[in-house]
Amino acid sequence: MPVDAAEIPRSLVSTHRARLKILDQRKLPETVSYLDCSELSEVISAIKNLAVRGAPAIGLAAAYGLVLGLDDCVDELARIRIELRDRGQALIAARPTAVNLSWAVEQMLDFAATKEAALGEPGWRDRLYQQARKLFEADRAACRAIGIAGAALIKDKPSILTHCNAGSLAVSEFGTALAPIYQAQADGLPVQVWVDETRPVLQGARLTAYELMAHGVPCRLITDNMAAHVMSKGWVDLVLVGADRVARNGDAANKIGTLGVAILAKHYGIPFYVACPWSTIDLETPMGAEITIEERAGDEVRQIQGIWTAPRDVPVFNPAFDVTPAGLIAGFITERGILSPNALSKHAPEARYG
Ligand code: MRU
Repeated sequence: MPVDAAEIPRSLVSTHRARLKILDQRKLPETVSYLDCSELSEVISAIKNLAVRGAPAIGLAAAYGLVLGLDDCVDELARIRIELRDRGQALIAARPTAVNLSWAVEQMLDFAATKEAALGEPGWRDRLYQQARKLFEADRAACRAIGIAGAALIKDKPSILTHCNAGSLAVSEFGTALAPIYQAQADGLPVQVWVDETRPVLQGARLTAYELMAHGVPCRLITDNMAAHVMSKGWVDLVLVGADRVARNGDAANKIGTLGVAILAKHYGIPFYVACPWSTIDLETPMGAEITIEERAGDEVRQIQGIWTAPRDVPVFNPAFDVTPAGLIAGFITERGILSPNALSKHAPEARYG
């Protein structure tokens, strides 16, 4: 049965090339409100400050953002090329770890270089916009396929633990790690979810718990340091997480804390799966050690939701992601099916764009 996506506000809403509405995820779950963007700089700032977050969602925001405010650009081919290149670079610089961001910008720039785009000819801005929409639709289709592929895993493993938010809010719709859960529920399978709160900025507590409850999926919120206890009791059958960049050897970068969950899962013999679209797989990066890990402001650790919970000047280390080695990953749930980590390298690099 198809999953009904209507319960969750969309992370991105675009009905015209000159406007992009970005759900302000910093305000969830208390307030549903959108940032109305008409300039590239507004999209860059929304990506940097986590108003929009989640690897596929920031890629799609970048694709739409690349086209915003282009009416100010003259219809001259050389000028347009420079403008698009500069915009692409500015977008990619906003966050370094999720490959979906540079992937989406490259997809847009590759399209802009084709005859079909006919840059500078009447309608070129609309044609670019249509390309951004295609990427959005492709992400929706990928998430649906991930949901169907992953639901098969849940049949005899109904109790799932997840970390961070790899749901509808992190993508176009449905999600990656949460997509199999939504699909299983729609198929009438019993399913329940342990939600790690995911410090420092609480994507699990604020976003995943909100999504699951809106979908009516039974869930329980735990603090990150409770995962070992819950696993030790035999209450977790399966771990499902998303990813921000997967290296050719199957090492996977995801939200800080994922590595610890993977190590615990190994200890307790619980299968650990990563769900991601093919746009997250970076065959050009040979191994996880080469993935740039974003470091964010110390106040994210010194505070919780704006309240000081530590001395205001205590030194802080705040890596936003960690890398789980391929050896801890049972498989990747993708729109191409469930692949083992060593199967990724068998795909030709250009397959990344398929
Ligand atoms: O810092 P965030 O919230 O952008 O981090 C998000 C994650 O780590 C997600 O798990 C990942 O992007 C996959 S989203 C489908």
